[in-house]
Amino acid sequence: MTEQTAHPSPAASGSATNGAIVLDQVGKTYGSGEGAVEAIRSISLTFAQGQSVAIVGPSGCGKSTLMRMIAGLDDLTAGSIRIGDRQVTGPVRDIGVVFQRDLLLDWRSVLDNVLLPAEIRGMDMAAASKRAMALLEELDVAGFAKHYPWQLSGGMRQRVAIARALLPSPHLMFLDEPFSALDAMTRDQMNVLLQQIQAAEHVTTLLITHSILEAVFVADRVLVMSGRPGAILDDITVDFPRPRKLELRETPAFTAIVGRIREQFVKTGDLVG
Ligand SMILES: Nc1ncnc2c1ncn2[C@@H]1O[C@H](COP(=O)(O)OP(=O)(O)OP(=O)(O)O)[C@@H](O)[C@H]1O
Ligand SMILES: [Mg+2]
Repeated sequence: MTEQTAHPSPAASGSATNGAIVLDQVGKTYGSGEGAVEAIRSISLTFAQGQSVAIVGPSGCGKSTLMRMIAGLDDLTAGSIRIGDRQVTGPVRDIGVVFQRDLLLDWRSVLDNVLLPAEIRGMDMAAASKRAMALLEELDVAGFAKHYPWQLSGGMRQRVAIARALLPSPHLMFLDEPFSALDAMTRDQMNVLLQQIQAAEHVTTLLITHSILEAVFVADRVLVMSGRPGAILDDITVDFPRPRKLELRETPAFTAIVGRIREQFVKTGDLVG
């Protein structure tokens, strides 16, 4: 953990956050002495509010570590992270997170799963139910609100997980390989849905993925990380208009960006999807 302040208010932890995310020479080493593993080396970055950023990089390069540090779930060993004008010093509540495993509760209906953050935060349940149904509608899974997670396909479960993450209208949404376990066609559908909902919700999004196609299709900006210790090899702006359709992936402009990223991995010998 970075240095704790005496006053609770300046910390991003536990309060609503707004504004850009600023990483200043962030480093992370796990352990110490001979067993030390340097996971991240001096990363400085700024994410604008509302931006959709994808991170690609070889396995073990520190992508999840970086995300966890921004979310305040992992200590930094160098540098600092700010969200808006607040220093991250502990878990940031204003983030919706989605992982490869959806972590839905099998004994609660789809709607009740989406409402979980509302219960935890003591939100107005009538308003929360309305929002939950609107999100399920947007994610095209509203017809299953009364079903249970075990009655859904993997893609539908991930839509529910995204709805749950977005329920409290967080300013930030972090997704760590959310679609890795899905088949290719379902994943394509999820990519279309994700970039739609990201735009509709104006939520700053950080997506970790092993798929270069997915990164370029979904994001406004793709960060390419080197092998460990993770550093930023390339920072690419992707300004295709939205909403994006899958056909975009066949265009020369799209293919050129994918090629540029793939080349980075060929150069370093770190091949990813
Ligand atoms: N809690 C921990 N203790 C010690 N080392 C860790 C810990 N968590 C991660 N590491 C190490 O830090 C490095 C980065 O791990 P991280 O999980 O961030 O990589 P990643 O890019 O997300 O990989 P993947 O693509 O496989 O998910 C790895 O070498 C990993 O072994
Ligand atoms: Mg990871």
